[in-house]
Amino acid sequence: MTSYYLTTPIYYVNARPHLGHAYTTIIGDALARWHRLLGEDVHFLTGTDEHGLKIQQAAEAAGKTPQEFVDEIAPQFQDAWQRLNISNDDFIRTTEVRHRIGVQELLQRCYDAGDIELDVYAGKYCVACEEYYADDELLEGDLCPIHKRPVEYFEEENYFFRLSRFQDRLLDWYAAHPGAIVPEFRGNEALGLIRSGLRDFSVSRTSLQWGIPLPWDDKHVAYVWFDALANYMTAVGFGSDDPADQASFEKWWPARHLIGKDIIRHHCVYWPAMLLSAGIELPAGWAVGGWLLSGGEKMSKTSGNVVNPLDLIDEFGVDGFRYYVLADTTYGQDGDFTYEGLTSRYNSDLANNLGNLLSRVATVVGKKCDGVGPAPRADSPLADAAASAWDGTAAAWAEVQPNRALEATWSLIRATNAYLEANEPWKAEPGPAVDAVMGDALEALRIVAILASPAVPATSQHVWERIGLTGQVGDQRLPDAARWGGYPGGVSVVKGDPLFPRK
Ligand code: ME8
Ligand code: MG
Repeated sequence: MTSYYLTTPIYYVNARPHLGHAYTTIIGDALARWHRLLGEDVHFLTGTDEHGLKIQQAAEAAGKTPQEFVDEIAPQFQDAWQRLNISNDDFIRTTEVRHRIGVQELLQRCYDAGDIELDVYAGKYCVACEEYYADDELLEGDLCPIHKRPVEYFEEENYFFRLSRFQDRLLDWYAAHPGAIVPEFRGNEALGLIRSGLRDFSVSRTSLQWGIPLPWDDKHVAYVWFDALANYMTAVGFGSDDPADQASFEKWWPARHLIGKDIIRHHCVYWPAMLLSAGIELPAGWAVGGWLLSGGEKMSKTSGNVVNPLDLIDEFGVDGFRYYVLADTTYGQDGDFTYEGLTSRYNSDLANNLGNLLSRVATVVGKKCDGVGPAPRADSPLADAAASAWDGTAAAWAEVQPNRALEATWSLIRATNAYLEANEPWKAEPGPAVDAVMGDALEALRIVAILASPAVPATSQHVWERIGLTGQVGDQRLPDAARWGGYPGGVSVVKGDPLFPRK
């Protein structure tokens, strides 16, 4: 069985989860669910990034020890993902022992390879980024280009990772792996960073205690990004001497990373260089998302414009919110979060299209077919629409373009609603003609339920059950399950409450 190991960034626990975190996590969840439908052996990882200066400062501000502080925030991420129906197979916290041993192993390997060396560093540092910046990268007035906040001047004796040695090796690797980063224009951004010249980066700090000690010099703790990136390996067993962990690492590595555009440098430059140094296979791929903006600015704790995803699910339901996040922005580009956008997507695509289709089908079957769903016709006029919905949905997920995937799936909903309007079975006398139309519509709904399930899993399961099908929609296997003709007929169809009451 093909294995598919997918990761999200591990989020900083300096504050509770916001919509930007939910955005990336929901995309990861939908992608993981899609690959499960394809019959792949999926491992979906998310987690929390708990070390470093930023967390230490947040803990101080809250009057807590760092450990107390992270122990309070990390469960808020776990709870939020549970409420959003995120199907992660694991959740890694960088304060776990399994992580520490793996980070130390990775550090030691790079050190033994001669790529980590002691040096003195002086420079301007953005604590929110946990990153040094050169003067020409800063905005007017020494402001961080991402957070637009003043940087701080630091001077430390640090161990350095000799990134400058890796330029050619990275460029060669990317040249040999075209398409490793999607969308392509984000891959070009990464190549631009590599071509513009690579500076060594410091991988240790003596100015703080909240981190993982270097195995060969415990006055230093590991730089938080070196620590954090390693989570993708430590979560699946890297660094452990238990044979079961080693087998797990063999099985799952390399990962596919979902990230935001703010962390391209760390994931597409630092990380592959660290892996090259340590003699470990490079990632299987990267998908890079843009930002969700709110009022034209990146939604972030630092900008103070965060939207709490849990407030939105109270109002629009988990699937209403998930659908909006997936359907309304083009992955890779920035997208704007607006309440009006959410409401209008909800009303048009969910209430008027999907919800209305299910409700009219169930009503007509109740009235004209004694509540028993008829079987579809083999030569249904909807069969082509179903085939192209499958093709379009599959192609779009393969490119990590959720909005296009949903557009393709929703094309079958629209075709089915149009088909019902053309045939007006609600006006016809019960009999074979009505049965034929309703069997076709039920079959289309069956296929829609499967194709939409990565985005709206609970809704798809409701549709599945209301049209009389048993088992879990998520247990269906593509492409077979999307072939026209799978609806058995002769099963009860239930109307139930509206799936998406109009707003
Ligand atoms: O960078 N729009 O953590 P972080 C879209 N701990 N996505 C957003 C977003 C927004 N407004 N805000 C955040 C870190 N994200 C490190 C990562 S990984 C080894 C370490 C998403 O809490 C997006 O995926 O700042 C971004 O890359 C990530 O959250 C950064 O989360
Ligand atoms: Mg950030």
